[in-house]
Amino acid sequence: MRVNVVNHPLVSHKLTVLRDEHTDSPTFRRLTDELVTLLAYEATREVRVDPKPITTPVGPTTGVYLAQPKPMVVPILRAGLGMLDGMMRLLPTAEVGFLGMVRNEETLEASTYAERLPDDLSGRQCYVLDPMLATGGTLAAAITFLTSRGADDITAICLLAAPEGVANLEKGLEGLDVPVTVVTAALDQKLNEKGYIVPGLGDAGDRLYG
Ligand code: PRP
Repeated sequence: MRVNVVNHPLVSHKLTVLRDEHTDSPTFRRLTDELVTLLAYEATREVRVDPKPITTPVGPTTGVYLAQPKPMVVPILRAGLGMLDGMMRLLPTAEVGFLGMVRNEETLEASTYAERLPDDLSGRQCYVLDPMLATGGTLAAAITFLTSRGADDITAICLLAAPEGVANLEKGLEGLDVPVTVVTAALDQKLNEKGYIVPGLGDAGDRLYG
């Protein structure tokens, strides 16, 4: 598993405002959207493309188009929904599938309550959207589910990740024969006793949707 912590002053600036407890929901939603577009630029560095001959007003050349099958974007409800528009701005022709997952705040176990994805994801690159990689349980379950449907290349985009969660995710995906990349704006210090990322930004779902 690869972890890419995006190092860019605009990413750090937007993340700082997101972290601030005084940032209200409308601002939080707008900044999440902007930040995801910046992260998506990094996350799609290896999106598959095919060569395509075209003619410019000056003459013929060969460029590239997104390859088929189209990439699949998978926001994890509910908080991942706040990342969807920012992602689709860069990949407007991608397909979107949904996974509804919730973490039990006592046991910190993730469970799936909704799923709307194609049965067959063979040969598909998947981009999973979830703002927080805390214990890593949610992302591990989501990635395992996508690979069980045949996804063969998975990139998760997170606003924040905890070191413990990254380690758990790596362990949870041991033996999985599919490349997995995590792209995040920051790797924070730790998880607290409640499973929250420290310093983090609080509960992303609540801050996006109240
Ligand atoms: C939060 C967050 C992630 C998950 C991360 O979702 O948005 O999906 O927890 O935790 P983990 O890495 O420890 O599994 P939550 O369960 O609060 O649901 P929500 O998105 O509906 O708010």
